[in-house]
Amino acid sequence: KKVVLAYSGGLDTSVILKWLQVTYNCEVVTFTADLGQGEELEPARAKAQLMGVPDKHIYIDDLREEFVRDFVFPMFRANARYEGDYLLGTSIARPLISKRLIEIARETGADAIAHGATGKGNDQVRFELSAYALDPNIKVIAPWREWDLNSRTALIEWAEQHQIPVPKDKRGESPFSTDANLLHTSSEGKVLEDPWEETPDYVYSRTVNPEDAPDSPEYITIDFTKGDGVALNGEAMSPATLLTALNELGRKHGIGRLDLVENRFVGMKSRGMYETPGGTIYAAAHRGIEQITLDRGAAHLKDELMPKYAELIYNGFWFAPEREMLQAAIDHSQSRVNGTVRLKLYKGSASVVGRKSPDSLYSERHVTFEDDAGAYDQKDAQGFIKLNALRLRLLAQRDSGGA
Ligand code: ARG
Ligand code: SIN
Repeated sequence: KKVVLAYSGGLDTSVILKWLQVTYNCEVVTFTADLGQGEELEPARAKAQLMGVPDKHIYIDDLREEFVRDFVFPMFRANARYEGDYLLGTSIARPLISKRLIEIARETGADAIAHGATGKGNDQVRFELSAYALDPNIKVIAPWREWDLNSRTALIEWAEQHQIPVPKDKRGESPFSTDANLLHTSSEGKVLEDPWEETPDYVYSRTVNPEDAPDSPEYITIDFTKGDGVALNGEAMSPATLLTALNELGRKHGIGRLDLVENRFVGMKSRGMYETPGGTIYAAAHRGIEQITLDRGAAHLKDELMPKYAELIYNGFWFAPEREMLQAAIDHSQSRVNGTVRLKLYKGSASVVGRKSPDSLYSERHVTFEDDAGAYDQKDAQGFIKLNALRLRLLAQRDSGGA
C-alpha cells in the first residue's frame, strides 16, 4: 500500500501525512510543487524526512514554466473569467497538480493519491475529476472527508499528540485559508465570511494598496505571438518569467485585487478575496491585441463560448473532451493574434492605451472622419439599413394595427 500525497509542508498536510501513516499503515510519497507560490520548499523536504519518508519518496518539482505555458496562457487565450470577474487562479493549478500526482503514482507503484482539500469546496472536485480522467483506477483519499478532526483545535491537538511541530502562529485560530501560485493568491474564511465586511488590509499579501501606489503612471508594452505574451518592454521572456515580471509591476501599482462572492460547484456561495496582479495586466493586454487582430465574427463567438469554457475550468473539467474542443476553437482563433500592446499602470488600474500589429484588421482609411479617397461608399449604408429594418417595420406595422 502506497499513496502519493499533495504535500505543501504546512500544518494541515503534515497532519494528513502522519494520519495516512497511522490510519492506513501505508507508505506515503510526498509531492510538493513549485507553482510560484513564493514559499521555501526545502522545509517541506525536512518535515517529510522527519516523518520517516525516505528521500526517494520525496518529490519536489519546479512546475512554474509548465504551469504558465500549458495551463495559464491557454486559458488566457479565451479571456476566461468565472462569473464575470474571477481569473481562475486556483482552478487552473489543480489539473496540473493532479497530472503530476498520477505520474508519480506510476513511477513509484502507488495505487492511491491523497489531497488536503475539504469536503465543502471546489478543489476536491478538481483534483479528483482530473485524476480519474488520467487514471480511471486510481484510489483517492481525502482525509478532510473521513476523519473526525473537524475543528482547528482538534487538528492541533492531534498534531501535538503525534509529535508534529505546530508553529506558534498556528496555535490560535488560523486567520483565513489561502492558496497561492504564480497567477494569484486567494483568501477565504474567517474575517471574510461576512460578505458585508470589507476585507482588512492584512489579508492582502502581494499588492500594495492602490491608494498608496505611485502617484505617477508607468507605461509598459507587451508583445504577443499567436495569442501568447512573448516579451515585456521589448525584452523576450519565457511564459513564467513574463508573468513573474508582470506580478512585480502589478504589486507596485496595486493592480488585480478582487472581492467576490461566487457560486461553488458543490452548491454553496462563498466569499473570496483574490490578488491577481500580473494576470490582470496580461488579461487587459490580451484583449487589447485581439481588438485589432480578431475578426468580429470570431471575436464575438469567442466571447459567447467563454463563460462555458470558464465554468468547465472552475468545475474541474480541464481534462474533459468538451474543454478540449473549446480549446481547439480558441487556439485556432489566435493564429494571427500578433503584435504589441501599450498599457498604462496607475493606482490599481491597467489600461490599454495603444496597440499595433502586422496582422491588424484596423483600417484607418475606412474609419476616418476625413476624406477616405473612395475606400467606402456611404450610399451603401442606406440599403444595408433598409433591409435590416424590414422586419422591424413589418412588426411595428402589425402592432400598431396599421398597414
Ligand atoms: N474559491 C477559489 C476557487 O474555487 C479558491 C479556492 C481555494 N482557496 C483557498 N483559499 N483555499 O477556485
Ligand atoms: C477547500 O475547500 O479545500 C478550499 C476551498 C475550495 O476548494 O473551494
